[in-house]
Amino acid sequence: MKTKITELFNIEHPVIQGGMHYVGFAEMAAAASNAGALGIITGLTQKTPEDLAREIARCKEMTDKPFGVNLTFLPAFTAPDYPGYVKVIIEGGVKIVETAGRSPEAYMPYFKEAGIKVIHKCTSVRHALKAEKIGCDAVSVDGFECGGHPGEDDIPNMILLPRAAEELSIPFVASGGIGNAQQLVAALALGAEGINMGTRFIATEEAPVHENVKQAIVQATELDTRLVMRGLKNTERVLTNSAVERLVEKEAALGDKLKFEDIQEEVVGVYPKIMQDGEMDAGAWSCGMVAGLISDIPSCKELVERIVNDAEDIIRNRLAHLPRSDLSPLK
Ligand SMILES: Cc1cc2nc3c(=O)[nH]c(=O)nc-3n(C[C@H](O)[C@H](O)[C@H](O)COP(=O)(O)O)c2cc1C
Repeated sequence: MKTKITELFNIEHPVIQGGMHYVGFAEMAAAASNAGALGIITGLTQKTPEDLAREIARCKEMTDKPFGVNLTFLPAFTAPDYPGYVKVIIEGGVKIVETAGRSPEAYMPYFKEAGIKVIHKCTSVRHALKAEKIGCDAVSVDGFECGGHPGEDDIPNMILLPRAAEELSIPFVASGGIGNAQQLVAALALGAEGINMGTRFIATEEAPVHENVKQAIVQATELDTRLVMRGLKNTERVLTNSAVERLVEKEAALGDKLKFEDIQEEVVGVYPKIMQDGEMDAGAWSCGMVAGLISDIPSCKELVERIVNDAEDIIRNRLAHLPRSDLSPLK
């Protein structure tokens, strides 16, 4: 399948594996890229720019296909060494960067000078337009369904994507809630040039996370995610567990008096415990509603090929027959 996104990133399929904290290691990115999608290393999971440089080098040993690096601009008390991360991305010869969180404007001149294509992930049309204005090559439009941070507007993709199509000139991919071929076709119909998936890629053979995490996604239904940290204007969609239930109770009890310190226990330092040690009640971890559509753990290649092949089949064999035949010019 050829779209503006496959052309832009020089990839075989219009599928992106979004950056994911403690999931987007070189193994994940290389497996997605080797499957013909675009794999993405998560920059900030690497504690220092030097660690990220090593991760990029490791990924290059595992794939000769294009891959990207995610740089998430966090509302952190002490900002990570962003200039340092940008420097190793450029020096490492990475040609695609996925930015998220806040506007990447300050770093755009460096990315552009290095010939790097930037895809900015955002949850609203106004932020997508800003990304277009500052020179991003594409955007990833993340709907309310998504795992991770859906923003504060709560607009699901059925509305957000066609709104993005109305306003944007640069290509965009649909992100959030996507895991199968039907949804790829729907995304294309709504104006997107491809899809970005997070949660679905965690439940793959190659995802470098504990088996418990994959099983938790397979077991979960679409009813099992919760929104947390809304009161802090840092809403995150997570899979429910005992720590999340505790967190939600604290939020309800404290109301607008809630401070970050009140919920630190449930959110700080959680990812290594969940992703690497498989302690599934250790705290709140991002997971999308699409868990309800995930019932197996295929290889990345099986997953990507299934989605793209079935999508082509739906377009050719189901949708092609829907137009009224009396409109055919041959009749
Ligand atoms: C476990 C997990 C960790 C994530 N970490 C990040 C991150 O560090 N930076 C980022 O930009 N997005 C992050 N995301 C969001 C994904 O890149 C992607 O946008 C999102 O998962 C799409 O929604 P889906 O899970 O419904 O496919 C994370 C998602 C998950 C599930």
